[in-house]
Amino acid sequence: MPCTVITGAFWGDEGKGKIISYLALKDQPDLCVRTGSVNAAHTVWYKGNRYALHMVPATFICEKCRLLIGAGANVHVAKFLEEVELTNVKNRIGVDRQASIIEEKHSIQDKTSAHLKGIGTTGWGVGPAIEERVRRTAKLAKDIPELQPYLTDVAKEVNEAIDAGKTVILEGTQGFMLSLFHGTYPYVTGRDTSASAICSEAGVGPTRVDNVLIVFKAFITRVGGGPLPGELTKEEALKRGWFEKAAGTGRDRRSAPFNFEIAKKSAMINGATQAAVTKLDILYPQCKGARTYEQLPEEAKRFISEIERQTGVPVVLIGTGPDALDVIDRRKQQ
Ligand code: IMP
Ligand code: MG
Repeated sequence: MPCTVITGAFWGDEGKGKIISYLALKDQPDLCVRTGSVNAAHTVWYKGNRYALHMVPATFICEKCRLLIGAGANVHVAKFLEEVELTNVKNRIGVDRQASIIEEKHSIQDKTSAHLKGIGTTGWGVGPAIEERVRRTAKLAKDIPELQPYLTDVAKEVNEAIDAGKTVILEGTQGFMLSLFHGTYPYVTGRDTSASAICSEAGVGPTRVDNVLIVFKAFITRVGGGPLPGELTKEEALKRGWFEKAAGTGRDRRSAPFNFEIAKKSAMINGATQAAVTKLDILYPQCKGARTYEQLPEEAKRFISEIERQTGVPVVLIGTGPDALDVIDRRKQQ
């Protein structure tokens, strides 16, 4: 897997953090670039500890991995410094000089702008920060004294790593259906979230990518406003064990059954070559902790086959529990 893009298929919270942390342990990547911004929280469970990361790449649990934040990202300086301390990655994390900065004023604008009311944004200020960048008035990482020790040229580092045949992960954030271009506009985030945009934010051309790994969850969740086909009531979600709270904001997540039409569209526009399905154990409790495909009940196998049939993408990783290592890895068999 020399260069792999990890992208979310639905409205975020598909379990990208979990899949990326598994790859961090198994594939020992040399370098990972995180894109997007502080609005997305990637959850990593490792050795009994839970991390909800807003800035630091989820591969941090691989100790040799160089961690980078791309030029297209928006950096929340205080959150970045806090997480660098928490994960103890000071000596191996870098920020692109041209990444832009989210400031307190952006968060205030996000929470008080009338036009954003019904969208239910996370309130971190990502939309207003992007608006400021588009106006060409944003502060960049290179302008911030506290970021000086971390500044680097991410595009150069990542392209040189690819040239050298190193293992590289481009960490997408949020989900495809929140894409400013392809999602449920206007109930979307302030950027494109597709695999192409992840490459663009990191500074990697489309010919340099070997795999696009799309992450599906076994059911769908969404926070904030906007349509959600097949939405369940909270009572029904609780009954099925699908009810979740957002890792970042603590808000209730709305939920719905897996949707093959959305999965197909998402696989197509992301150009997915591989798929992961997380939380299969929530849909089929007998799957909990399974580490081989053979351990899955027939019903669960049929669900996985149906995803493969309809999207045309092989399901290579299956999440069966919260720990980074609760994964069925079918890559060797395919
Ligand atoms: P914003 O990205 O904070 O502007 O929020 C716009 C929409 O995207 C809202 O519906 C948010 O709930 C949603 N959103 C933003 N980031 C995430 C995420 O990481 N996971 C899930 N939903 C998100
Ligand atoms: Mg999340």
